[in-house]
Amino acid sequence: MLPSPPAAPMVRFVFVIILLFCSGINTNINICFGEEDQDEEGRDIYLVMVEGDPPVAFLPDDHLHSDRGPSEILKEARSRGHAAHLEKSHDELLQTTLDQGAYNKLYSFNHIVNGFSVHTTPTQATRLKNAPGVKLIQKDTGARIMTTHTPKMLGLPQRVWQRRGGHPLTRDAGEGIVIGFVDTGINPFHPSFAYDHPRHGDGRFPGVCEEGPMFPKTSCNGKIVSARFFSAGAQAAGNLNASVDILSPYDAVGHGSHVASTAAGNHGVPVVVNGFNYGRASGMAPRARIAVYKAIYPSLGTSTDVLAAIDQAIKDGVDILSLSIGPDEPSNENITMLSMFDIFMLFARKAGVLVIQAVGNRGPDPYTTASYSPWAVGVASCHTDRTYPGSFVLGNGRKIDGIGLSAPSSGIELLQSKLVLAKDAVLANGDFPRTPEYIDECQHPEAFDPVIVRRTIVICTFSAGFYNASSSIPAIVNTARTLGFAGFVFVANPAYGDFIADSYPFPIPGVMVPKVSDTQVIIDYYQKHTERNYNGVVTEYHGRASIGEGRFASYNSKAPIVSRFSSRGPNFVDVKKTPLDLLKPDILAPGHDIWAAWSPMSVKHPILVGYNFGLLSGTSMAAPHIAGIAALIKQRNPLWSPSMISSAMTTTATTFDNRGAPLMAHGQEIYTLHLSTPFDHGAGLVSPANAVDPGLVFMSEFEDYMSFLCSLPNTDPEIIKTALGEPCGRSFDAPSDLNTPSVTISKLSGSKVVRRTVRNVADKVEMYVCGVVPPTGVAVEVNPPWFTIAPQGTQDLEVVLKATQVQDSFSHGEIVLTGNMEHIVRIPLSVLPVSVS
Ligand SMILES: *[C@@H]1O[C@H](CO)[C@@H](O)[C@H](O)[C@H]1NC(C)=O
Ligand SMILES: *[C@@H]1O[C@H](CO)[C@@H](O)[C@H](O)[C@H]1NC(C)=O
Ligand SMILES: *[C@@H]1O[C@H](CO)[C@@H](O)[C@H](O)[C@H]1NC(C)=O
Repeated sequence: MLPSPPAAPMVRFVFVIILLFCSGINTNINICFGEEDQDEEGRDIYLVMVEGDPPVAFLPDDHLHSDRGPSEILKEARSRGHAAHLEKSHDELLQTTLDQGAYNKLYSFNHIVNGFSVHTTPTQATRLKNAPGVKLIQKDTGARIMTTHTPKMLGLPQRVWQRRGGHPLTRDAGEGIVIGFVDTGINPFHPSFAYDHPRHGDGRFPGVCEEGPMFPKTSCNGKIVSARFFSAGAQAAGNLNASVDILSPYDAVGHGSHVASTAAGNHGVPVVVNGFNYGRASGMAPRARIAVYKAIYPSLGTSTDVLAAIDQAIKDGVDILSLSIGPDEPSNENITMLSMFDIFMLFARKAGVLVIQAVGNRGPDPYTTASYSPWAVGVASCHTDRTYPGSFVLGNGRKIDGIGLSAPSSGIELLQSKLVLAKDAVLANGDFPRTPEYIDECQHPEAFDPVIVRRTIVICTFSAGFYNASSSIPAIVNTARTLGFAGFVFVANPAYGDFIADSYPFPIPGVMVPKVSDTQVIIDYYQKHTERNYNGVVTEYHGRASIGEGRFASYNSKAPIVSRFSSRGPNFVDVKKTPLDLLKPDILAPGHDIWAAWSPMSVKHPILVGYNFGLLSGTSMAAPHIAGIAALIKQRNPLWSPSMISSAMTTTATTFDNRGAPLMAHGQEIYTLHLSTPFDHGAGLVSPANAVDPGLVFMSEFEDYMSFLCSLPNTDPEIIKTALGEPCGRSFDAPSDLNTPSVTISKLSGSKVVRRTVRNVADKVEMYVCGVVPPTGVAVEVNPPWFTIAPQGTQDLEVVLKATQVQDSFSHGEIVLTGNMEHIVRIPLSVLPVSVS
């Protein structure tokens, strides 16, 4: 989506909610870290991996099934002094290789990988690269961040949480599961994170509560079990602003609080904004615990802080890691999956942690996913069935659809006010530039005649400033407040076309009309009812209008629909976008107009300053839905590995909407929909009630990911060894043999056999029949066509794909394993047949 094509201009505040990336014109949350000031030779942050095993390598293979958690085993490794030894070796390497004073070590990573990050010059970095024992060096490319009705929409209260007296029972709402969040921190004063239930099983988590500004010791209260912040990278990389870049786990942005409460916020917290009660919010797993790892600051975010945070989360032994953040770009040009970020996620996975990742907000173009690796679950975003219909009513009774959570103008619906076009109310002899910013866009109160605009509804128009994101809705609100408007209507501009607007709660009456055709109706009415003198100056305003009540939700939209901004597959292996035979995104979850906890400081989002709840959109909002649902599954099945939980969610997802029709996706043209494919929605919308009882699962472990990487075409095994510290042993015939609950073949010539193994996790013997919906141009056969499987038993499957007709783009289908005990296991198929024979 970034930068916006001319067909799709965007309003500034739309971008603030799409938080994952900040390139292009739409940056409001500017936490990129890139080129910096060059002193003689500028310094950058480098991430360095060195030879030698980190403690995670000592985890016994069966640690998942032992009574001791990974954190205890890691603790043991540490007590053997291994971590300290590694740290010392990092310091020695730096001392012997680099010039004294020319570098500054930021972190030693010694829990999941053996490496460190260092702030130094390119010359020194080159020396380091060539030093003995250094395996890999990557420049830090920065990191960015990317309710509640959704529990109900996803069927949690009735079908997953067992409720009594309106409260989820401890047993089934994620009790005791710890979710780690690497983000902008947390607002510990928020009721979503209050401690409202008895502790169970505390003491297991070796949390630390780092006190600091806005973050008293009492912040870690049993709900928040641990809170830390990581700032060495941010402090080295840029000029932090002490008044907003708070050096404590406190969330000055709101994003981290939003994400944490979506996954694990308390149940039934009233959402009150501008004095209006919008209902109650709840996390997906309201009894889960929260471990906070702040690594992104309002002024910037670095990969090095993010990696240090992940390292610590793994060391602490979180069960699930929720990442609504990511690097700016693929930071490994040759193998996307071997960026430091992905390598850390792999080692997290090796330590038994389920990693959930937002796929990014660069949709709707193909090849935009920022989630590449099979060891992390990539989450795409969809709209829900809830909308907040706003309206604008003209004096002639004509009602126009609008967007914005607004009280009615004049307090009473239909009581109308004088209508004034901003341009007609500009002070004739004021001292300000005659630019769209001052004339059309209502950005500055001093531009208007206060007498004309007082108690009127003013028409403000989208123009250049909104197109390049220098103008904003909060500035319109400020103008309207300062001058006492009855309300504002923000309309489209034919020169820029329709714009995209998302709902925000407005503190004063206001509505947005994003379509040019609707705008035309308003302007025609206004002109017809306005008298002008021979100079064109208005002498009489006869036009009247009102803004309707916009705060009441309607729950009957077609849903889900894949969000326009949600990043898309196909997945790719390098910056040339060579397709990778692995499906991304993995799964779809709500990520549009999500109410969740906020931080009143709201440093990056002026429109939400002072609020305790934010209504936001982005794949950042979708990922924690999956993290919370994964907690529900993990709680019921404590011994399930990450791939089992991930498989349970994807094979039970649905590809139909609430009307029983196939899923649709927003595409390039604003307001148009197309049939959604797995490259838009992965396996489909998560279905928690089914995910807790999937029947069969597809498992893969660290060794399988190694075999997968080693089977990538045109890849030097040395590169894998360098990155992961282990030589390629076994490799698959092809990457598509990785045992994922999906099959993606980007070049099918003739025929191909793909192998899968399923495991029965139900407690009964079940007979499954294998059905196929073949992709266009491909014949698919599954062997055996049916099988009976005992509890804990496994079954090998052979999928034979045969190209029957060449296609010029991917076509999609699915394999459906239908059990006689009501389990249905779906596997998406995406195939590009390039030659028959
Ligand atoms: C620091 O942030 C405050 C609050 O947003 C702002 O007023 C101030 O100008 C900033 N200072 C710098 C040096 O950017
Ligand atoms: C990518 O591959 C090219 C050519 O083999 C090599 O020169 C370059 O250093 C590689 N880049 C990385 C980040 O490994
Ligand atoms: C954006 O548009 C405004 C209004 O036309 C203009 O003053 C400003 O210089 C533009 N900014 C950029 C970065 O193009």
